[in-house]
Amino acid sequence: MKGIGIHRYGDERELTVVDMPDRDVGANEVRISLRASGVNPIDWKLREGYLKDALSFTPPLTLGWDGAGVVVETGEYVNKWQPGDEVYFRPELTEYGTYAEEIIVEEALLQHIPAELSFAEAASLPLVGLTSIEALMNIAQAQKGDSVLILGGSGGVGTVAIQIAKAIGATVTATSSDKNRAFTSARGADHVIAYDQDEVIEGEFDVLFDAVGGEPYKKAISHVKNGGVAVSIAGGVSQDEETIKIEQQKLIQVNEMFMQPDQEKMKQLNDFVTAHQVSPVLSHTYPMSVEGARDAHQDSATNRTKGKIVLVRDENTPVQ
Ligand SMILES: NC(=O)c1ccc[n+]([C@@H]2O[C@H](COP(=O)([O-])OP(=O)(O)OC[C@H]3O[C@@H](n4cnc5c(N)ncnc54)[C@H](OP(=O)(O)O)[C@@H]3O)[C@@H](O)[C@H]2O)c1
Repeated sequence: MKGIGIHRYGDERELTVVDMPDRDVGANEVRISLRASGVNPIDWKLREGYLKDALSFTPPLTLGWDGAGVVVETGEYVNKWQPGDEVYFRPELTEYGTYAEEIIVEEALLQHIPAELSFAEAASLPLVGLTSIEALMNIAQAQKGDSVLILGGSGGVGTVAIQIAKAIGATVTATSSDKNRAFTSARGADHVIAYDQDEVIEGEFDVLFDAVGGEPYKKAISHVKNGGVAVSIAGGVSQDEETIKIEQQKLIQVNEMFMQPDQEKMKQLNDFVTAHQVSPVLSHTYPMSVEGARDAHQDSATNRTKGKIVLVRDENTPVQ
């Protein structure tokens, strides 16, 4: 199964064609011909080796865990899917990623691609969508009328989190750079705070969703209401005394999370998309080639991506 990945950790020059051993499709699994893969910061962080203690991979591995493609084979107990179905999904985090010609995925993790979405648009959604649903709906249990503060409103997660928080009926304040203020506002944020201007967070929020980490989290925590919820996906939860004191004094429920594939959340995401409450936000597509993946990783690692980066593959083009 040919894909783009690594034989050892390192910079983007380590990205190469990887030929993983093929295997049979399991009874509840589906083989998918990939047409697009989302690119997420976890891809280049893993490639660099930053996550080697947390995730027990031994290279070689194919990167990417966000996909869209066409079903080509189904396992013996699979009734729901047929060859030719167009699907999008967040697969399990294994050595068989989505920068690849094919992938085998558990059928329960798939959803039909809504008619109006391209493969690239569909592949941009699962990882950031499931992350936002887990943070805002499952952990924070944000409700209609809640005030939600999102750090990193213009990034891959932030652009979708804003839309989901608005769909729930929350009032949303998001942070972004000044140059991305209008872009973040256009995703639905009621208020945008430009962190690189002399603009400060004002007021208090029921929910803090942190997609940035570090200092921005520390600055934001005092703006969570007594008994409010803070969820960080970027290692924001601080160990410094001052931050912990505020968290404890205000009885803030503090959570760090690492998203997992989940069929229920994938269905919820698909419901938001088909109801036109969540739309993909693509900033750049690159070809699914070694060169394309290297460019995409360099782009993502700038930490300045607006919306999502996606690798796209023509069905007849082998990865190379
Ligand atoms: N734990 C999990 O399950 C999980 C899941 C998904 C992602 N993550 C992590 O969450 C983080 C965000 O992911 P992503 O996909 O959204 O990344 P991304 O698309 O690369 O995010 C880049 C964005 O971050 C913004 N940003 C950088 N510094 C900022 C600051 N000080 N304040 C506000 N915004 C700032 C940039 O906005 P400007 O250009 O406007 O500054 C840019 O739009 C990454 O660290 C990723 O690894 C974790």
